Amino acid sequence: MQRRILGRTGLRVSPVGLGGYPFGGINRAAGWDPFTPEGRQTAIATIHRAIERGINYVDTAASYGDGNSESIYGEALAQDGRRQRVILATKCRWNGAGDDVIRSVERSLERLRTDVIDVIQFHGGMFTEENVRHILEAGPLEAFWTLRQQGKVRFLGFTCEEPWTARPLIATGQFDVVQLRYNIIYQGAALHALNEARDQRMGVAVMRPMTSGILQRTLRFLKPEWPEAEIYELALEYALADSRVHVANVGMRWPHEVDTNVTLASRFQPPEGFDVADLPRMTAGIYRADDEDAGISERSDR
Ligand SMILES: NC(=O)c1ccc[n+]([C@@H]2O[C@H](COP(=O)([O-])OP(=O)(O)OC[C@H]3O[C@@H](n4cnc5c(N)ncnc54)[C@H](OP(=O)(O)O)[C@@H]3O)[C@@H](O)[C@H]2O)c1
Repeated sequence: MQRRILGRTGLRVSPVGLGGYPFGGINRAAGWDPFTPEGRQTAIATIHRAIERGINYVDTAASYGDGNSESIYGEALAQDGRRQRVILATKCRWNGAGDDVIRSVERSLERLRTDVIDVIQFHGGMFTEENVRHILEAGPLEAFWTLRQQGKVRFLGFTCEEPWTARPLIATGQFDVVQLRYNIIYQGAALHALNEARDQRMGVAVMRPMTSGILQRTLRFLKPEWPEAEIYELALEYALADSRVHVANVGMRWPHEVDTNVTLASRFQPPEGFDVADLPRMTAGIYRADDEDAGISERSDR
Protein backbone atom coordinates (compact mmCIF):
# COMPACT_ATOMS: atom_id res chain seq x y z
CA MET A 1 0.00 0.00 0.00
CA GLN A 2 1.18 3.54 -0.69
CA ARG A 3 2.07 5.91 2.14
CA ARG A 4 0.95 9.43 3.10
CA ILE A 5 2.86 11.84 5.31
CA LEU A 6 1.11 12.37 8.64
CA GLY A 7 1.45 16.15 8.64
CA ARG A 8 4.26 17.69 10.65
CA THR A 9 5.07 14.39 12.41
CA GLY A 10 6.75 13.41 9.14
CA LEU A 11 5.64 9.79 9.77
CA ARG A 12 4.84 7.79 6.65
CA VAL A 13 1.49 6.13 7.20
CA SER A 14 -0.71 3.74 5.26
CA PRO A 15 -3.93 5.46 4.15
CA VAL A 16 -5.89 2.72 5.90
CA GLY A 17 -5.23 2.28 9.61
CA LEU A 18 -6.51 -0.45 11.93
CA GLY A 19 -9.12 0.88 14.35
CA GLY A 20 -8.99 -0.78 17.75
CA TYR A 21 -12.57 -0.43 18.95
CA PRO A 22 -13.62 -3.97 17.92
CA PHE A 23 -10.93 -5.46 20.20
CA GLY A 24 -12.66 -3.91 23.19
CA GLY A 25 -16.30 -4.41 22.29
CA ILE A 26 -18.54 -7.47 22.31
CA ASN A 27 -21.02 -7.89 19.44
CA ARG A 28 -23.11 -10.97 20.11
CA ALA A 29 -25.10 -10.69 16.87
CA ALA A 30 -21.84 -10.99 14.93
CA GLY A 31 -20.54 -13.78 17.18
CA TRP A 32 -17.76 -11.48 18.35
CA ASP A 33 -16.25 -11.55 21.83
CA PRO A 34 -12.63 -10.40 22.15
CA PHE A 35 -12.67 -11.31 25.84
CA THR A 36 -12.70 -15.07 25.10
CA PRO A 37 -9.43 -16.91 24.24
CA GLU A 38 -10.75 -17.62 20.71
CA GLY A 39 -11.88 -14.03 20.17
CA ARG A 40 -8.51 -12.79 21.37
CA GLN A 41 -6.66 -15.12 18.98
CA THR A 42 -8.80 -13.92 16.06
CA ALA A 43 -8.08 -10.29 16.96
CA ILE A 44 -4.35 -11.05 17.10
CA ALA A 45 -4.57 -12.78 13.71
CA THR A 46 -6.31 -9.67 12.34
CA ILE A 47 -3.55 -7.39 13.64
CA HIS A 48 -0.88 -9.68 12.18
CA ARG A 49 -2.67 -9.80 8.83
CA ALA A 50 -2.95 -6.01 8.79
CA ILE A 51 0.81 -5.63 9.28
CA GLU A 52 1.54 -8.32 6.68
CA ARG A 53 -0.69 -6.49 4.17
CA GLY A 54 1.07 -3.14 4.70
CA ILE A 55 -1.08 -1.37 7.28
CA ASN A 56 1.31 0.49 9.57
CA TYR A 57 -0.99 2.73 11.64
CA VAL A 58 -2.93 1.22 14.53
CA ASP A 59 -5.30 3.10 16.80
CA THR A 60 -6.64 2.06 20.17
CA ALA A 61 -7.68 3.58 23.51
CA ALA A 62 -7.28 2.88 27.20
CA SER A 63 -11.07 2.79 27.48
CA TYR A 64 -11.76 0.23 24.72
CA GLY A 65 -12.92 -2.76 26.74
CA ASP A 66 -11.27 -1.25 29.82
CA GLY A 67 -7.80 -1.96 28.41
CA ASN A 68 -8.68 -5.17 26.54
CA SER A 69 -7.98 -3.65 23.13
CA GLU A 70 -4.58 -2.31 24.26
CA SER A 71 -3.69 -5.62 25.85
CA ILE A 72 -4.52 -7.49 22.61
CA TYR A 73 -2.34 -5.06 20.66
CA GLY A 74 0.41 -5.51 23.26
CA GLU A 75 0.40 -9.27 22.82
CA ALA A 76 0.14 -9.10 19.01
CA LEU A 77 2.92 -6.54 18.61
CA ALA A 78 5.32 -8.25 21.04
CA GLN A 79 5.63 -11.15 18.60
CA ASP A 80 8.47 -11.18 16.04
CA GLY A 81 9.40 -7.51 16.29
CA ARG A 82 6.07 -6.31 14.97
CA ARG A 83 6.11 -3.32 17.32
CA GLN A 84 8.88 -1.78 15.18
CA ARG A 85 6.70 -2.06 12.09
CA VAL A 86 3.79 0.08 13.26
CA ILE A 87 2.95 3.57 14.37
CA LEU A 88 1.03 3.05 17.58
CA ALA A 89 -1.68 5.53 18.56
CA THR A 90 -3.72 5.35 21.72
CA LYS A 91 -5.89 7.61 23.86
CA CYS A 92 -6.50 8.66 27.41
CA ARG A 93 -9.16 10.62 29.26
CA TRP A 94 -8.64 14.36 29.47
CA ASN A 95 -11.13 15.31 32.16
CA GLY A 96 -9.08 14.50 35.25
CA ALA A 97 -5.93 16.06 36.65
CA GLY A 98 -2.49 15.93 35.05
CA ASP A 99 -1.52 13.03 37.34
CA ASP A 100 -4.48 11.02 36.06
CA VAL A 101 -3.23 11.51 32.50
CA ILE A 102 0.25 10.35 33.45
CA ARG A 103 -1.03 7.29 35.31
CA SER A 104 -3.34 6.37 32.44
CA VAL A 105 -0.55 6.58 29.86
CA GLU A 106 1.80 4.56 32.07
CA ARG A 107 -0.81 1.82 32.35
CA SER A 108 -1.28 1.95 28.55
CA LEU A 109 2.47 1.47 28.08
CA GLU A 110 2.32 -1.66 30.25
CA ARG A 111 -0.66 -3.13 28.41
CA LEU A 112 0.85 -2.27 25.04
CA ARG A 113 4.19 -3.82 26.14
CA THR A 114 6.18 -0.94 24.74
CA ASP A 115 8.46 1.85 25.98
CA VAL A 116 6.92 4.54 23.82
CA ILE A 117 3.56 5.46 22.33
CA ASP A 118 3.92 7.15 18.94
CA VAL A 119 0.74 9.23 19.09
CA ILE A 120 -1.05 9.93 22.36
CA GLN A 121 -4.49 11.51 22.03
CA PHE A 122 -6.98 13.05 24.42
CA HIS A 123 -10.05 10.90 23.83
CA GLY A 124 -12.80 13.30 22.88
CA GLY A 125 -16.41 13.44 21.90
CA MET A 126 -17.11 17.13 21.81
CA PHE A 127 -15.32 19.93 23.66
CA THR A 128 -17.05 22.84 25.37
CA GLU A 129 -15.11 26.06 26.07
CA GLU A 130 -14.77 24.91 29.65
CA ASN A 131 -13.37 21.54 28.53
CA VAL A 132 -10.80 23.30 26.35
CA ARG A 133 -9.75 25.53 29.25
CA HIS A 134 -9.44 22.48 31.47
CA ILE A 135 -7.17 20.69 28.99
CA LEU A 136 -4.98 23.72 28.38
CA GLU A 137 -4.81 25.21 31.85
CA ALA A 138 -5.62 22.57 34.49
CA GLY A 139 -2.89 19.99 33.90
CA PRO A 140 -3.73 17.54 31.09
CA LEU A 141 -1.69 19.31 28.37
CA GLU A 142 1.20 19.84 30.78
CA ALA A 143 1.08 16.10 31.54
CA PHE A 144 1.46 15.40 27.82
CA TRP A 145 4.54 17.69 27.73
CA THR A 146 6.01 15.81 30.70
CA LEU A 147 5.39 12.43 29.08
CA ARG A 148 6.98 13.66 25.86
CA GLN A 149 10.00 14.99 27.74
CA GLN A 150 10.35 11.61 29.47
CA GLY A 151 10.35 9.89 26.07
CA LYS A 152 7.16 7.95 26.84
CA VAL A 153 5.20 9.51 23.98
CA ARG A 154 6.41 10.97 20.70
CA PHE A 155 3.58 13.05 19.24
CA LEU A 156 0.57 14.74 20.85
CA GLY A 157 -2.98 14.61 19.58
CA PHE A 158 -6.66 14.57 20.37
CA THR A 159 -9.79 12.99 18.94
CA CYS A 160 -13.11 14.68 18.37
CA GLU A 161 -16.52 13.63 17.09
CA GLU A 162 -17.90 17.15 16.55
CA PRO A 163 -15.50 19.00 14.26
CA TRP A 164 -16.61 22.51 15.16
CA THR A 165 -15.60 21.88 18.76
CA ALA A 166 -12.15 20.72 17.65
CA ARG A 167 -11.28 24.15 16.30
CA PRO A 168 -10.11 25.82 19.51
CA LEU A 169 -7.75 22.92 20.23
CA ILE A 170 -6.48 22.88 16.64
CA ALA A 171 -5.86 26.64 16.89
CA THR A 172 -3.52 26.24 19.87
CA GLY A 173 -0.86 24.71 17.62
CA GLN A 174 -0.01 22.37 20.52
CA PHE A 175 -1.15 19.17 18.84
CA ASP A 176 0.59 17.27 16.07
CA VAL A 177 -2.31 14.98 15.19
CA VAL A 178 -6.08 15.23 15.22
CA GLN A 179 -8.52 12.37 14.73
CA LEU A 180 -11.91 13.56 13.52
CA ARG A 181 -15.24 11.96 12.78
CA TYR A 182 -15.45 12.39 9.05
CA ASN A 183 -17.10 10.23 6.44
CA ILE A 184 -19.51 10.31 3.52
CA ILE A 185 -22.50 11.06 5.77
CA TYR A 186 -20.84 13.17 8.50
CA GLN A 187 -19.15 15.81 6.37
CA GLY A 188 -19.02 18.64 8.91
CA ALA A 189 -15.25 18.38 9.27
CA ALA A 190 -14.87 19.18 5.56
CA LEU A 191 -15.97 22.74 6.29
CA HIS A 192 -15.19 23.20 9.95
CA ALA A 193 -11.91 21.56 10.85
CA LEU A 194 -9.93 19.97 8.03
CA ASN A 195 -8.68 23.21 6.48
CA GLU A 196 -7.65 24.48 9.91
CA ALA A 197 -5.79 21.23 10.59
CA ARG A 198 -4.06 21.45 7.23
CA ASP A 199 -3.05 25.06 7.90
CA GLN A 200 -1.39 23.90 11.13
CA ARG A 201 0.28 21.07 9.19
CA MET A 202 -1.29 18.59 11.57
CA GLY A 203 -1.51 14.89 10.88
CA VAL A 204 -5.14 14.00 10.20
CA ALA A 205 -6.69 10.65 11.03
CA VAL A 206 -10.38 9.96 10.61
CA MET A 207 -12.56 7.80 12.80
CA ARG A 208 -15.65 5.92 11.58
CA PRO A 209 -14.70 6.14 7.87
CA MET A 210 -17.21 3.37 7.10
CA THR A 211 -19.86 5.42 8.99
CA SER A 212 -19.73 2.74 11.73
CA GLY A 213 -22.23 0.88 9.55
CA ILE A 214 -24.91 3.60 9.88
CA LEU A 215 -25.17 4.36 6.17
CA GLN A 216 -25.20 0.64 5.34
CA ARG A 217 -27.91 -0.06 7.93
CA THR A 218 -30.04 2.80 6.55
CA LEU A 219 -29.67 1.71 2.94
CA ARG A 220 -30.43 -1.90 3.86
CA PHE A 221 -33.98 -0.60 4.39
CA LEU A 222 -34.21 2.25 1.91
CA LYS A 223 -32.29 0.73 -0.98
CA PRO A 224 -32.17 -3.01 -0.31
CA GLU A 225 -31.17 -3.64 -3.93
CA TRP A 226 -27.83 -1.80 -3.49
CA PRO A 227 -24.97 -4.27 -2.84
CA GLU A 228 -23.65 -3.61 0.66
CA ALA A 229 -20.02 -4.33 -0.29
CA GLU A 230 -20.16 -1.43 -2.75
CA ILE A 231 -21.48 0.92 -0.09
CA TYR A 232 -18.49 0.07 2.12
CA GLU A 233 -16.24 0.62 -0.90
CA LEU A 234 -17.83 4.02 -1.57
CA ALA A 235 -17.40 5.05 2.06
CA LEU A 236 -13.72 4.15 2.05
CA GLU A 237 -13.14 5.88 -1.28
CA TYR A 238 -14.73 9.06 0.02
CA ALA A 239 -12.25 9.22 2.89
CA LEU A 240 -9.29 8.38 0.67
CA ALA A 241 -10.30 10.97 -1.93
CA ASP A 242 -9.87 13.90 0.46
CA SER A 243 -6.24 15.03 0.31
CA ARG A 244 -6.50 16.53 3.79
CA VAL A 245 -6.94 13.05 5.28
CA HIS A 246 -3.79 11.03 5.93
CA VAL A 247 -5.14 7.87 7.49
CA ALA A 248 -8.63 6.37 7.80
CA ASN A 249 -8.91 4.15 10.88
CA VAL A 250 -11.24 1.36 9.85
CA GLY A 251 -12.67 -0.99 12.47
CA MET A 252 -11.92 -4.55 11.33
CA ARG A 253 -12.52 -7.70 13.29
CA TRP A 254 -11.48 -10.50 10.98
CA PRO A 255 -8.43 -11.04 8.78
CA HIS A 256 -10.65 -11.27 5.68
CA GLU A 257 -11.90 -7.71 6.36
CA VAL A 258 -8.30 -6.55 6.33
CA ASP A 259 -7.78 -8.25 2.97
CA THR A 260 -10.87 -6.60 1.50
CA ASN A 261 -9.99 -3.11 2.68
CA VAL A 262 -6.33 -3.30 1.74
CA THR A 263 -7.33 -4.47 -1.74
CA LEU A 264 -9.85 -1.62 -2.05
CA ALA A 265 -7.36 0.99 -0.86
CA SER A 266 -4.52 -0.31 -3.02
CA ARG A 267 -6.49 -0.21 -6.24
CA PHE A 268 -8.23 3.12 -5.60
CA GLN A 269 -6.94 6.13 -7.51
CA PRO A 270 -8.99 9.32 -7.19
CA PRO A 271 -10.07 10.38 -10.69
CA GLU A 272 -7.66 12.86 -12.27
CA GLY A 273 -8.25 16.34 -10.89
CA PHE A 274 -10.81 15.23 -8.30
CA ASP A 275 -10.32 15.99 -4.62
CA VAL A 276 -13.15 15.88 -2.08
CA ALA A 277 -11.38 18.81 -0.41
CA ASP A 278 -12.27 21.00 -3.40
CA LEU A 279 -15.97 20.18 -3.56
CA PRO A 280 -18.08 23.32 -3.28
CA ARG A 281 -20.27 23.08 -0.19
CA MET A 282 -22.31 26.30 -0.13
CA THR A 283 -25.12 27.01 -2.58
CA ALA A 284 -23.50 29.95 -4.40
CA GLY A 285 -20.32 27.93 -4.86
CA ILE A 286 -22.31 24.94 -6.09
CA TYR A 287 -24.10 27.09 -8.70
CA ARG A 288 -20.78 28.52 -9.87
CA ALA A 289 -19.28 25.03 -10.08
CA ASP A 290 -22.25 23.84 -12.14
CA ASP A 291 -21.67 26.72 -14.58
CA GLU A 292 -17.97 25.94 -14.78
CA ASP A 293 -18.68 22.23 -15.38
CA ALA A 294 -21.07 23.25 -18.20
CA GLY A 295 -18.41 25.54 -19.70
CA ILE A 296 -20.40 28.71 -18.99
CA SER A 297 -18.17 31.49 -17.76
CA GLU A 298 -20.65 34.41 -17.64
CA ARG A 299 -24.04 34.38 -15.96
CA SER A 300 -26.69 34.51 -18.73
CA ASP A 301 -29.26 36.46 -16.67
CA ARG A 302 -27.00 39.46 -16.18
N1 LIG B 1 -13.74 9.35 19.82
C1 LIG B 1 -12.86 8.56 19.23
O1 LIG B 1 -11.68 8.72 19.42
C2 LIG B 1 -13.31 7.46 18.30
C3 LIG B 1 -14.67 7.19 18.15
C4 LIG B 1 -15.04 6.20 17.24
C5 LIG B 1 -14.08 5.50 16.54
N2 LIG B 1 -12.75 5.76 16.71
C6 LIG B 1 -11.71 5.00 15.97
O2 LIG B 1 -12.13 4.79 14.64
C7 LIG B 1 -12.16 3.38 14.37
C8 LIG B 1 -13.22 3.04 13.37
O3 LIG B 1 -14.51 3.37 13.87
P1 LIG B 1 -15.69 2.31 13.86
O4 LIG B 1 -15.10 0.96 14.07
O5 LIG B 1 -16.76 2.80 14.75
O6 LIG B 1 -16.32 2.49 12.42
P2 LIG B 1 -15.98 2.16 10.90
O7 LIG B 1 -14.56 1.91 10.68
O8 LIG B 1 -16.66 3.24 10.17
O9 LIG B 1 -16.83 0.84 10.68
C9 LIG B 1 -16.35 -0.37 11.18
C10 LIG B 1 -17.27 -1.51 10.79
O10 LIG B 1 -17.43 -1.59 9.41
C11 LIG B 1 -17.42 -2.94 8.99
N3 LIG B 1 -16.49 -3.06 7.86
C12 LIG B 1 -15.27 -2.52 7.73
N4 LIG B 1 -14.79 -2.77 6.50
C13 LIG B 1 -15.74 -3.47 5.84
C14 LIG B 1 -15.85 -3.99 4.52
N5 LIG B 1 -14.90 -3.81 3.62
N6 LIG B 1 -16.99 -4.65 4.18
C15 LIG B 1 -17.99 -4.82 5.07
N7 LIG B 1 -17.93 -4.34 6.34
C16 LIG B 1 -16.82 -3.67 6.70
C17 LIG B 1 -17.02 -3.79 10.15
O11 LIG B 1 -18.18 -4.43 10.61
P3 LIG B 1 -18.16 -6.01 10.85
O12 LIG B 1 -16.94 -6.26 11.64
O13 LIG B 1 -19.45 -6.25 11.55
O14 LIG B 1 -18.11 -6.64 9.51
C18 LIG B 1 -16.58 -2.80 11.20
O15 LIG B 1 -16.99 -3.17 12.49
C19 LIG B 1 -12.35 2.74 15.74
O16 LIG B 1 -12.03 1.39 15.76
C20 LIG B 1 -11.45 3.63 16.57
O17 LIG B 1 -10.11 3.26 16.38
C21 LIG B 1 -12.37 6.75 17.56
